[in-house]
Amino acid sequence: MAATSRDLPPLYRQWAEHYRQAIAKGALSAGQRMPSVRELMQRHAISLSTALQILRTLEAEGCLEARPRVGYFVCSPAAVNLGEATDPDPRMPVSQLDGKEFVGINERISLWLEQGRLADVRIDLGSAMPAPELFDGATLNRHGAALLREFPDILVQGHSRPGTHPVFQAAMARRALDAGVQVAPQEVMATLGNSEAVNLALSAVAERGDVIAVESPTFYGLLQAVEAQNLRALEIPSSARTGISLEALELAVQQEPRLKAVVVVPHLQMPHGAVMPDEHKARLVDFCVRHQLALIEDDIYREFLDSPQPPRPLKAWDRHGQVIYCVSFNKTVAPGLRQGWMNGGRWHTRIHMLKFAKTRNMQVWAQLLTARTVEAAAHERHLRRLRQALRQQRERSVQAVARYFPVGTRLSVPAGGLSLWIELPPGASSSRLFEQALALGIRVAPGPMFSNTGRYERFVRLSCGLPFSAEVEAAYVTLGRLVQAMLDQDPLQRVAA
Ligand SMILES: Cc1ncc(COP(=O)(O)O)c(C=O)c1O
Repeated sequence: MAATSRDLPPLYRQWAEHYRQAIAKGALSAGQRMPSVRELMQRHAISLSTALQILRTLEAEGCLEARPRVGYFVCSPAAVNLGEATDPDPRMPVSQLDGKEFVGINERISLWLEQGRLADVRIDLGSAMPAPELFDGATLNRHGAALLREFPDILVQGHSRPGTHPVFQAAMARRALDAGVQVAPQEVMATLGNSEAVNLALSAVAERGDVIAVESPTFYGLLQAVEAQNLRALEIPSSARTGISLEALELAVQQEPRLKAVVVVPHLQMPHGAVMPDEHKARLVDFCVRHQLALIEDDIYREFLDSPQPPRPLKAWDRHGQVIYCVSFNKTVAPGLRQGWMNGGRWHTRIHMLKFAKTRNMQVWAQLLTARTVEAAAHERHLRRLRQALRQQRERSVQAVARYFPVGTRLSVPAGGLSLWIELPPGASSSRLFEQALALGIRVAPGPMFSNTGRYERFVRLSCGLPFSAEVEAAYVTLGRLVQAMLDQDPLQRVAA
């Protein structure tokens, strides 16, 4: 089937790939100056933001380095030799989309997490969280103390009504507006991060035995939540370029009468980092409206995107209250507060009722502290610094994979965020890598944590949240050696070599 413009990656990705190949083939050599933003705009008849995205994508991939006030220059080819990781086949037959197989993953994931927790971990490349020093702890402490002085009774006062403080609601509604989303302040409900938000959303829209469409691969916490609520997860292939496959969703809806909801992470999907193009978002919202499916949007990583214009959430396309929108500040503001919020669309009242029944939560101090922090001018500066630090850490990590992992390793470099999704060469196993690395004090997240289909045994997620120190680099050397040793032991690999 000929590719239509709908199947093609966004324009900036197409041009970034064009230049990546030119660098890989030597048409643009190390040290050479890249065309400037203006030259790219003229040469390819593209907008300023597309030209900037091309350069920033290539920079994030380690193909280019920016020299302040001079321009972008081609890096040494080490990092460029990595091919893109393989996407799952979007036309996967529905017989393979078997919801019944989704039992037991909760136990396996818990086991991996527990093993990691009990081990003596020196370098944690397993959790997608920025290092503590990348947060603005001093500002948080200042705001937190000021609030306690201003409201000395805040921690001892009971609250007769459940829910969310109006100051927090107003601040979140304003931020949503900046992102292109209209939410009335009274329809903002505070949550304990996105874990609670997504759990509440699932409880509101589905009951025991119902089917929930999730991306494949997906965040393991979602697979746990689905199973813990006696629901069945149906994995829908998700591409590292465009996100969830609408084609496979169409098939799923025909075959699964108990399908009730679709859960997606549209910006910097976990684990492969896709950013869903706007056209895809519009089609997905439309699809869910047509089939009366709840669309649960986990928008935890939007602010990590290295993009001149952060994209609009799916909620911006929602005219029917079909999208349940979930935001968390756990990874951008303060993991210690676990503050998030949600808007439940047409399920909002039910979600509010469920929240009261389950937790009655009203942590006023945390809500006011979050609102004050994110509304201060310093917050945008903090976010810029955080993105910048993570960009550098990602670049160093990509270069380390290119340098120390065996030939045949592939990865799709994300346009921001906290982690890399790496495909190891045939013959390698990420479950074995997890065990062997943990014995040496290095924690990684093996691919099978992110799916119950057994398709990701050769994938591993490595976090870029730690500053790239000599110890982190040494951990990459060790991981590369462990993978190489697996290949050396695999007779098929020896024959192939
Ligand atoms: C996609 C995704 N959703 C939700 C969470 C958890 O969110 P929170 O920490 O806000 O509960 C994570 C954490 O890693 C995640 O990657």
